[in-house]
Amino acid sequence: MSFRERRYKTPTDKDIKLRLLDWTDLNGITKFHGELYDSNYFDSPPNTTLEVRYVLRNLEARELAGGLSLVADHQKEIIAEATLETSIFGIPVQKHIGKIWLVVLPEWRRLGIGTELLTALEHFAIRNGIMTLWTHFERDCEIEEKFYCEKHKYVKTGLVKKALMRQNKPKDHLLVQKELPRGGI
Ligand SMILES: CC(C)(COP(=O)(O)OP(=O)(O)OC[C@H]1O[C@@H](n2cnc3c(N)ncnc32)[C@H](O)[C@@H]1OP(=O)(O)O)[C@@H](O)C(=O)NCCC(=O)NCCS
Repeated sequence: MSFRERRYKTPTDKDIKLRLLDWTDLNGITKFHGELYDSNYFDSPPNTTLEVRYVLRNLEARELAGGLSLVADHQKEIIAEATLETSIFGIPVQKHIGKIWLVVLPEWRRLGIGTELLTALEHFAIRNGIMTLWTHFERDCEIEEKFYCEKHKYVKTGLVKKALMRQNKPKDHLLVQKELPRGGI
């Protein structure tokens, strides 16, 4: 899947590169996930076997099934990650619907990086005939609600009770989606 690497300068004057995830990112992704664990975003610390599977799964979703997996890097350190999946186990089961996931390291938030990555996913989706994007996040996560629903016009479509565990507690998740404009960019 084609994606043209691009640069983004933050309001704090830092140069960020938005690019495709690559196999050689295994160490960088492991470190990035470690930092997310330290910030309580993930419950488990990274483990090499799982990280290898994770990178493989994302590359497979991208190369075989029309998805996209991007990272934002600053001076070769991964500071954010964004994925768009249209497949399950590499099988493109939902050609016109894409599931997105996006996270930015805490110290890099509120600098427009999430918006840059989300816009890149949306443009890619539009160019590739995906009509709907959806995601989910914890019901009480005000920041994600503001980010998706207020800033980026995703619409709430449902609530899954006790969807996922975090910090040993079952968390309700809101489902949100956005219908994309048809016809390419
Ligand atoms: C949601 C997330 C991807 C946004 O990425 P980001 O790079 O910070 O986003 P942006 O800088 O592009 O912000 C875009 C908009 O999101 C909203 N937003 C982002 N951070 C916010 C904050 N701390 N408070 C309120 N609104 C916020 C605002 O609407 C903002 O627009 P504005 O700056 O014009 O007001 C990022 O905060 C993240 O990864 N969060 C993880 C959340 C998490 O920990 N979830 C689990 C437990 S709740």
